[in-house]
Amino acid sequence: MTPRRASRWAGHGVEELRERWEREGVHVYGKVGSTNAVARELAEEGAPEGTVVLAREQTEGRGRSERRWYSPPGGLYLSMVFRPDRAGLSPLVSVLAALGVVRRLDRAFAELGPALKWPNDIVVEGRKLAGVLPEASTGPGGPRYLVAGVGLNVRALGDEAPPEVRRSSTSLEDHVESPDPLAAADAVVQGLENFLRSPPAAAGPAVLALLDEYDWLRDRRFRVLTGEEEEEGMPGVGVGIAPDGALLFRPDRGALRRLSNATVLLEEATA
Ligand code: BTN
Repeated sequence: MTPRRASRWAGHGVEELRERWEREGVHVYGKVGSTNAVARELAEEGAPEGTVVLAREQTEGRGRSERRWYSPPGGLYLSMVFRPDRAGLSPLVSVLAALGVVRRLDRAFAELGPALKWPNDIVVEGRKLAGVLPEASTGPGGPRYLVAGVGLNVRALGDEAPPEVRRSSTSLEDHVESPDPLAAADAVVQGLENFLRSPPAAAGPAVLALLDEYDWLRDRRFRVLTGEEEEEGMPGVGVGIAPDGALLFRPDRGALRRLSNATVLLEEATA
């Protein structure tokens, strides 16, 4: 399916968005398979850093771990192209993408109280508001480009949403009166640019302090799946996020673990 370009997003014309974000590379679509897929195609064709792809709806929205991202009209589906000098995809890049966005959302919507759930979910009161999907393409000479896509629930999810999504998710509208989708898109664009234009090799003290401020798992009990243990996962407590983006986790049995690749079982998380 060739996606159809649209002239407006949330009532705002493409030219207005280009001026607002000070770039020519703003591409708006009605319905697409996945904005990440479109952004990757544009990146392959040479689209510059900072190119933005926005859609009103996705038919094949991609989530982490091969999951689908439920993408009905009324959500924010935005992907950006980056061309960092260093590194393809590391745990830190994923964490930094989400950290930039959570911080900007916090500033834009004072009553929201968003937090970062490692590695790159944005949650409010433990329910998922937004997810970030970074995808890198690396060539023989090093990284070629990085695409970071954000899906954010702007409007409250209706009865037609899959039950598991309704159970675990929240939306801007659930916490903010008449949220402005453009303010959310601004926060996502600025938030992704914050760290992905030139991602550090390791988080320094200022970034670690921000991670501490927004880390939702810190001092909470939850279970993690690492692929090594039994099906229900390993119970323990979140200790923080390391400078390389790994999750620091203290299991109920055994020593402190640094987990670069693990699944946190959201349903099990408790205050
Ligand atoms: C997650 O699993 O939490 C990540 C979800 C990322 C969804 C966004 S929506 C915009 C972009 N296009 C996609 O296909 N996925 C990302």
